[in-house]
Amino acid sequence: MAIWKSGKVVKQKQWSSNLHSLYVESELEPFEAGQFVKIGLDINGEVVGRPYSLVNPPGSSPLEFYYINVPNGILTSHLVELKTGDTILVEPRAHGFLILDEVPVSKHLWMMATGTGVGPFLSILSTDKPWQRYERVILVYAVRTITELSYQDKILQFLAKHTEQFIYIPFLSREMRDFTMTGRIPQAIVDGRLEQRAGITITSDNSQIMLCGNPQMVKDTTNTLIDRGLIKNRRVLPGQITMENYW
Ligand SMILES: Cc1cc2nc3c(=O)[nH]c(=O)nc-3n(C[C@H](O)[C@H](O)[C@H](O)COP(=O)(O)OP(=O)(O)OC[C@H]3O[C@@H](n4cnc5c(N)ncnc54)[C@H](O)[C@@H]3O)c2cc1C
Ligand SMILES: NC(=O)c1ccc[n+]([C@@H]2O[C@H](COP(=O)([O-])OP(=O)(O)OC[C@H]3O[C@@H](n4cnc5c(N)ncnc54)[C@H](OP(=O)(O)O)[C@@H]3O)[C@@H](O)[C@H]2O)c1
Repeated sequence: MAIWKSGKVVKQKQWSSNLHSLYVESELEPFEAGQFVKIGLDINGEVVGRPYSLVNPPGSSPLEFYYINVPNGILTSHLVELKTGDTILVEPRAHGFLILDEVPVSKHLWMMATGTGVGPFLSILSTDKPWQRYERVILVYAVRTITELSYQDKILQFLAKHTEQFIYIPFLSREMRDFTMTGRIPQAIVDGRLEQRAGITITSDNSQIMLCGNPQMVKDTTNTLIDRGLIKNRRVLPGQITMENYW
């Protein structure tokens, strides 16, 4: 059972009808960019806790969580009601292996996310590690519609700071726009559109891939990459695909 610390909500930001960022002051042990903590609320006399990725980089405050209010979501329907000054429970120790220390060094680092799965990648991109370890870093961020592409200012800052090194590829599945790709990530790997857009070919020799978000996207993309000769990254057998499923 998680041992909770009490946290204080300092801000709640709404990006679109169901997408929010929650900012919380709370004590947290040192963590690695890409990890998550459980946060919880007392709902009808019972503590309901769920894991959320930290969007802020290590050593920074407040803690930042990017979440979707899922239809009839037990916890998220209460998270959206939180106001500045409210109390929330936070697990004091972070967990998770979607961190660069678990990803072998290679030439290119691809980070592929659906929806709120972009959160841990924003934390990693805010640190020095990806820029020191990889020649090119590619963020692929897939959502349904343009209004769901959150954190564009932050991503533009990464682009401005790492112009030669960073490639940003936004994806929309249910709308067409000039600057975005259309469709789904795995299909765009199969038909070659993704690599064409990046100007980089994915091979087991030159690429590390991190996947986060919708478990079906993670599964389909993994299978597509396996067909291309990549394997899952395991401590006992290092490979090229490192993943985190959100449900
Ligand atoms: C390691 C880990 C890290 C996570 N980090 C985040 C995060 O940073 N942001 C975040 O929004 N969620 C994250 N989640 C999901 C989160 O823990 C909850 O499951 C989610 O907020 C729904 O909680 P709920 O009680 O409102 O919904 P529930 O009543 O428990 O309903 C769960 C259902 O909601 C849907 N769902 C859950 N999460 C998502 C999601 N992120 N996007 C789309 N649909 C979803 C699925 O259909 C799932 O079956 C993470 C999950 C894991 C395992
Ligand atoms: N986003 C909304 O406007 C909205 C509105 C009301 C309710 N909801 C509900 O909220 C929850 C989360 O919605 P969400 O849009 O954040 O998350 P999501 O359903 O995971 O969709 C995010 C992105 O992942 C893509 N995707 C889904 N399955 C995939 C797969 N197998 N391979 C590759 N890509 C895949 C989606 O493409 P596709 O579009 O092709 O599926 C979309 O571009 C869902 O339960 C949804 O029903 C969302």
